[in-house]
Amino acid sequence: MEVITTVSEMRQKVRAARFAAKWVGLVPTMGALHEGHGSLIQRAVSECDTVIVSIFVNPTQFGPNEDLARYPRTLDADIRYCEKLGAHWIFAPSVEEMYPQEQLAWVNVEKVTEGLCGARRPGHFRGVATVCAKLFNIIQPDVAYFGQKDAQQAVVIQTMVRDLNFPLEIRVCPTVRDKDGLALSSRNQYLSKAERKKALCLSKALQKCRELIQSGQTNPDEIRRAVLPFFDQPEVFLEYFELVDPQTLRPLAEIRGPVLAAAAARVGTTRLIDNLLIDLQTPSA
Ligand code: PAF
Repeated sequence: MEVITTVSEMRQKVRAARFAAKWVGLVPTMGALHEGHGSLIQRAVSECDTVIVSIFVNPTQFGPNEDLARYPRTLDADIRYCEKLGAHWIFAPSVEEMYPQEQLAWVNVEKVTEGLCGARRPGHFRGVATVCAKLFNIIQPDVAYFGQKDAQQAVVIQTMVRDLNFPLEIRVCPTVRDKDGLALSSRNQYLSKAERKKALCLSKALQKCRELIQSGQTNPDEIRRAVLPFFDQPEVFLEYFELVDPQTLRPLAEIRGPVLAAAAARVGTTRLIDNLLIDLQTPSA
């Protein structure tokens, strides 16, 4: 498996693959790979002829007080992991390679970026959409894989691809959890043992939310009231717990169909997100 670090070489490799009529899959990541990424890579390997994993800690999606500097960088281990899973190339450019001069063109996706994380991380989704647009233009994949764990990100990218006619398909794959329910995230590495236990507030609250909806509760305010105690712990700060339409991400006044329950909380200094797609037609969603 080859690691490619320049845009020109990446373009050349992909051109050759596409000329040979290969179906090209991209798994965009910021590295520090875990089994959540692993499930995306495995799916890509099972569905595509050529699988590229991009590893790039994208500075433009971090706010000034966020964790860009301490974000885990584990390239050697990531390369071994991708190789084991059967990916073909890693695209791991430097910041200078991706942003060689001041970036003047940006992708702004409206409305679906206004709530949830978008409201708390100004500019975050502009950075995500722009870097994904760059990756899609460099690699020109037929399909790109994203995790449901970052539900808002997946909707933002799907909207960008739809509205700007990018010629690729977006596949969103289920969240991978530890045995106790904690959603896998590269940021879990920041948690101490005690914080990791507290972090279960997110998955437990979402679980409770699902139970309430399954037992007939349709009032989002009542559900929010019922889950708040999970976050009532020292050093846990709830940013949001919201029940939104899975496609528009607008808050629901009443639950009548599929709902995305999405939460973000800080545990110590670590910001974590999680969500559940709840559809009574398919209770295992
Ligand atoms: O989900 C991530 O790891 C990042 O937001 C992404 C999609 C790779 C863009 O930098």
